[in-house]
Amino acid sequence: MNLQNITITLSETKKEKPQSDQLEFGKVFTDHMFIMDFSTGLGWHDPRIVPYQPITMDPASMIFHYGQSVFEGLKAYQTDDGRVLLFRPEKNFRRLNQSNDRLCIPELDEEFVLEALKKLIEVEREWIPSAEGTSLYIRPFIISTEPFLGVHPSSSYKFMIILSPVGSYYKEGIHPVKIAVESKYVRAVNGGTGTAKTGGNYAASLKAQEVSEKIGYSQVLWLDGVEKKYIEEVGSMNVFFKINGEVITPALNGSILEGVTRTSIIELLKHWNVPVTERKISMDDVRQAYLDGTLEEAFGTGTAAVISPIGEFFWNDEKLVINDGKTGELSKKLFDTLTGIQTGKLADPLGWVV
Ligand code: COI
Repeated sequence: MNLQNITITLSETKKEKPQSDQLEFGKVFTDHMFIMDFSTGLGWHDPRIVPYQPITMDPASMIFHYGQSVFEGLKAYQTDDGRVLLFRPEKNFRRLNQSNDRLCIPELDEEFVLEALKKLIEVEREWIPSAEGTSLYIRPFIISTEPFLGVHPSSSYKFMIILSPVGSYYKEGIHPVKIAVESKYVRAVNGGTGTAKTGGNYAASLKAQEVSEKIGYSQVLWLDGVEKKYIEEVGSMNVFFKINGEVITPALNGSILEGVTRTSIIELLKHWNVPVTERKISMDDVRQAYLDGTLEEAFGTGTAAVISPIGEFFWNDEKLVINDGKTGELSKKLFDTLTGIQTGKLADPLGWVV
């Protein structure tokens, strides 16, 4: 399939665009979207850009019953000199296909969908906000559409891309969050779907999130599903610690999602010659470092917030306050550098932006 196959139907009306300084996360959507269908026999077909609109679905569609779906999240940025930049988009489409494989969803042509995304962004160019901290959030996703109540892979799917102009994930910009360590619920186990970006993982995380909010914490720290000892992720993000000058993130173990921001931070730290290690790290290790006074920083990483510093962990009735609850130097430097590269304000030493 090539770009010539994409039909474009432009919207007759244009929505009013929100003020750049009043943007929230993921509440407003642009005028157009991309859709492509899959059916057994035809494969992926009928790629099209159409006015943003509701889709009609059979109530028996398998997505509603068994949750066979995958998604991605990435951002487009407007540079000061009017260019549009994507941050390592090929990694998102690679991961989408890895998620597809885990969920028995047919593979996509990664190069084609990246070109389709670029075409959609070209149509929606005016929607890319340019104020500090803003971007166009891109949500590619696939749902299973076969109307059938048997449990098996669907024979039909829809792949869609929708776009949402967004502000900073946190209104105040980068600021430390308080995290409750989750001892009851788990996010994923080795052999499960934790490494895939699929809706069910997020649905399964809501209960713990709700409980933590009730006791005054914004997110949970997920421990491994077997021993409930080793650290996996924080909220919907990967997690990093700085202990005695060394940066540590849990090694990919079959249940942790391989975040694009996670990979980029590891590569950036190596480029800076900062010691960085991917290994198992337990909550006991973190508490010991806290008691020794060597726990310097902790932060979550993801596309939405980029870097989210952690000001406090609550674990077994004990509060571990990190860096006086303030944003650490490394967290700030990583945030400024990554967002600088993403927005074209800083040089791109590792050749990431497209
Ligand atoms: C991200 O950090 O980008 C995420 O995965 C959160 C997203 C589900 C909103």
